[in-house]
Amino acid sequence: MIVIVGAGVAGLSAAAALRDMGYGGRVRVLGGEPATPYERPALSKEYLCDPTLGDPPSLASLAALHARDIRLDLGVEVLSIERQRQALLTTEGEEVGYEELLLATGAEPRRLALRGDTLAGVHYLRDLEDARELRAALIKSRNVVIVGGGVIGLEVAASAIQRGCRVTMLEAAPRVMGRIVPERFAGMLEEAHRAHGVDVRTNTGPAAFRGSGGRIREVVITSGAAVPADVVVVGIGVKPRTLLAEGSGLDVNDGVVVDAAFRTCDRHIFAAGDVARVFHGAAGQFVRIEQWEPAREQGRQAAASMLGGEISYRETPWMWSDQYDVHIQATGLGKGTVEVVRGTSLHERGGISYFCITDGRLVSACGASVGTSVARVIRAAHKLIERGAEVTVNQLADPSVDLHRLARAAGSLSGT
Ligand code: APR
Repeated sequence: MIVIVGAGVAGLSAAAALRDMGYGGRVRVLGGEPATPYERPALSKEYLCDPTLGDPPSLASLAALHARDIRLDLGVEVLSIERQRQALLTTEGEEVGYEELLLATGAEPRRLALRGDTLAGVHYLRDLEDARELRAALIKSRNVVIVGGGVIGLEVAASAIQRGCRVTMLEAAPRVMGRIVPERFAGMLEEAHRAHGVDVRTNTGPAAFRGSGGRIREVVITSGAAVPADVVVVGIGVKPRTLLAEGSGLDVNDGVVVDAAFRTCDRHIFAAGDVARVFHGAAGQFVRIEQWEPAREQGRQAAASMLGGEISYRETPWMWSDQYDVHIQATGLGKGTVEVVRGTSLHERGGISYFCITDGRLVSACGASVGTSVARVIRAAHKLIERGAEVTVNQLADPSVDLHRLARAAGSLSGT
């Protein structure tokens, strides 16, 4: 039997891939959340914007899993891995034996440790339950303070503005979204948010939360000033859920450390998705990628590896975000040494993209447009990165140069 711990996108794509690849043995997925597995990216976007929408799309219907003979147990907490006996122990006292085990336990929000952080009205956003609570809270709220200008903070800011709230964002770094995009791109995003009415404040953060009657009333920021708040949303990053792996003596270093075939130091235990720090063959280093699409791909590849396939992970990460009518995409790893801008306005066809080059090759790119036209540019950038294509500043900067054509030419040279 193959057991998968975690019913997020990595875990469920692994389960499906096992069947796609013809595995006929037993497959069991143990999920911690009680809800039928759903697409998490929707939680900070349309789900928050529109309180009349139903639950986010599910990752796999229970009927479809049943039809494929994939057993899914929800609301199950795994206590420990008994590696010698190749078995898991759950809090319910069940022992679940495995031949191969995949850890796809994901990540959880980093918490603030501040005076007043337990007041009602202080929210984190990771799972459906969090999103339900936040969505209900926004109905009654006027002043929203967002702590952290990362992916979650920016998406929630856009959703709250669309819900008619007044939004203040506190970002500790000089720029928002610093983990993913170059500074100038971040500056442009900040301007887009300001144009929609968000009071974006960088180089600052909360010093304390103050309330009355057990409810948040205001956030005191590091300068000493106070910002009124009915709701606070904290999005200051995530940490991988590695407790199980640590408890069983697996190698953990900000993620469960796995080789390019998703194998831990125990040859029967694998890890994929947000929890995994995987060796990336193309980058030549270990990476932990907190993105949906890569998690799905890692799940598939981990499944192939569990079935004995020769796997060497080298996929180029790709992510998207929607904020108001602005569509954002980013691809690649690292920030490069040379930065190139293409386009002049979010409104023009293709929007604005930023490319990062190292030694004449593209390493990463990100772009934004009103509408989704930037997607075509970033798709081309993704191919150029995958193919290790040589590129020039002029080619990238000139919107009349068809990047797909360049990518095709690079593909025929490299045979990919
Ligand atoms: N005060 C203000 N800002 C802070 C503080 C603080 N005390 N601590 C951290 N920050 C800022 C960081 O500088 C960063 O800009 O919070 C931001 C966190 O951004 P992300 O790392 O993108 O994390 P988050 O937005 O929480 O997203 C969490 O959800 O959708 C996924 O891919 C996404 O994995 C990511 C996860």
